[in-house]
Amino acid sequence: MYENYYGLTSKPFQLTPDPSFFFASKWHKRAMSYLQYGLSQAEGFIVITGDIGTGKTTIANSLLDNIEDDIVAAQIVTPKLSPDELVKMVASKFEVGTLNKTKADILKDLEKYLFDLHKSGKRALLIVDEAQNLPLETIEELRMLSNFQQQGKPLLQSFLLGQEELQPILRAPNMEQFRQRIVASCHLAPLNEPECREYIEYRLKHAGLENNELFADGAFDKIFKFTNGVPRRINTLMDRILLYGFLEELTLLDETAVDTVTAEVADEMFRPEEGTGATQPPLPAAGQPQPKVNVSEAQTDGGAEVMSELTPDGRVKDVQYYKTMLNELTDALDDAISHKIKLTRYIDNLLKKKYKTYVRLKSDD
Ligand SMILES: Nc1ncnc2c1ncn2[C@@H]1O[C@H](COP(=O)(O)OP(=O)(O)OP(=O)(O)O)[C@@H](O)[C@H]1O
Ligand SMILES: [Mg+2]
Repeated sequence: MYENYYGLTSKPFQLTPDPSFFFASKWHKRAMSYLQYGLSQAEGFIVITGDIGTGKTTIANSLLDNIEDDIVAAQIVTPKLSPDELVKMVASKFEVGTLNKTKADILKDLEKYLFDLHKSGKRALLIVDEAQNLPLETIEELRMLSNFQQQGKPLLQSFLLGQEELQPILRAPNMEQFRQRIVASCHLAPLNEPECREYIEYRLKHAGLENNELFADGAFDKIFKFTNGVPRRINTLMDRILLYGFLEELTLLDETAVDTVTAEVADEMFRPEEGTGATQPPLPAAGQPQPKVNVSEAQTDGGAEVMSELTPDGRVKDVQYYKTMLNELTDALDDAISHKIKLTRYIDNLLKKKYKTYVRLKSDD
């Protein structure tokens, strides 16, 4: 909508992760190095956790974009999958037939497929996105899949991406065997203030913006405070600011423009609590890629807090967990609908205003 007005060749703040827009912030760069290291190990699990919208899927897509030809990758985005469903899904992603087959048969065929791949000098990589949704027994099934070997060489490596809820799952006492197979892990934090500006400028430039003066310095400060440096929130807000600028025919987007838009979207977008704009989230390892998940962390105070998500025998309290998730989903959908309604009304008003101006100018002629 506003692309032509600002001389852009594409949408700069699309929500779909696009490797060509990948911005290598300090933490994203470091995380990428850990992941590349993990990939070079050709075995076990690589885990990326991070707050919602911090770029887990983006980083995985960027890694895949640069992946060597000898790796055959399959990606699954998991709803709550049972172990059997997982096996079926993994098999079908690698194009191994599953119709009318028992689980044992599917596993046999999958192993044969992985073995043939290995023989042809290639290897398989499985990417499991939204892994925080997996029940413990399904993660355990993933571990079993990682046991496929040929002459001591593992046939399948897996990548787990998940929100913070994945951490207590992996720290559960009965996940020790899984933990020992993690070859690299990292946690993504939001961008800091200078990076937030660089991120915005990078995306605008990548989308073809030539005017370096479109945003006033003070605007970046306001954008950071409102979004807390979370890339997805930055994208949503920036899209609205550019739309506003276009509708108001602005050639400079300053603090006042950002204030106007944030006041409009404050109810629709999640807003960080007052005063937290410049801080990182309170996770122990926030923003720091960690070489490995440390078992002893589960016994620390931080660990004790996350353990409250688990039953005494170490299982995730499923009902409460999924109830909360469903409530959050319902809220998010409600927000999205009211967001759309507000935006439609807003555009409607502006179009009416423009029409009136047009009629007035016409009658002046
Ligand atoms: N390093 C980055 N470079 C460019 N864009 C990014 C980067 N990180 C995140 N983004 C953008 O932020 C948005 C959210 O990113 P993404 O979907 O990867 O987050 P996520 O952590 O996977 O979110 P979720 O927790 O919901 O799965 C996307 O529009 C993506 O393009
Ligand atoms: Mg994601």
